[in-house]
Amino acid sequence: MNLLIVSTSLNPQSRSAIMARHAYNYLQSSGEDGEFLDLTQLELPPCDGKTCYGHPNTIKVATMVAEADCILLATPIYNFDVNSTAKNFLELTGQGWTDKVVGFICAAGGQGSYMSVMTFANSLMLDYRSVIVPRFVYATGSSFEDDRLVDTKVGERIEELVEIILRFAKSLSSTS
Ligand SMILES: Cc1cc2nc3c(=O)[nH]c(=O)nc-3n(C[C@H](O)[C@H](O)[C@H](O)COP(=O)(O)O)c2cc1C
Repeated sequence: MNLLIVSTSLNPQSRSAIMARHAYNYLQSSGEDGEFLDLTQLELPPCDGKTCYGHPNTIKVATMVAEADCILLATPIYNFDVNSTAKNFLELTGQGWTDKVVGFICAAGGQGSYMSVMTFANSLMLDYRSVIVPRFVYATGSSFEDDRLVDTKVGERIEELVEIILRFAKSLSSTS
């Protein structure tokens, strides 16, 4: 299985990026295939519904999404939603999400926004029949110290999420 991990925060001290990196390190240590896409490292055009699709970086990420068996999206929670970079990423890569297993890692400022990813998840389910793993990793600043993830429970949940996504994707591919 090829798991694509996408880090969508543009903050250089991003906590969701730290968690995404934890997921990728775990994926590599378990010997599974996967890629890490850090959107701070690749400038993408804003979606205009037309010319953006011919941009070389759009083509690059659309190919990465299309070739993935499953996707783990790490996102900041902004205004009770994923950030606009995550939304733009979906707008640019849409059809590639079809029938993919998708999981979420969220960094938030407080506990109250824990359902914020649902609008994005609904759109994936309704537009692309994506299979959403119903186990989100959601962490706030209290799980971090000096740009390090210190909450071992969150670390374990990230590892568990990676395993579950791969298990879902393997199970679904064996039935299709
Ligand atoms: C514009 C903006 C909007 C935010 N909105 C929320 C919110 O609705 N709920 C929340 O819990 N935290 C909110 N936060 C706090 C971020 O989720 C928090 O800083 C998180 O660590 C950001 O993720 P990152 O560190 O991966 O960039 C917001 C932060 C910003 C800058």
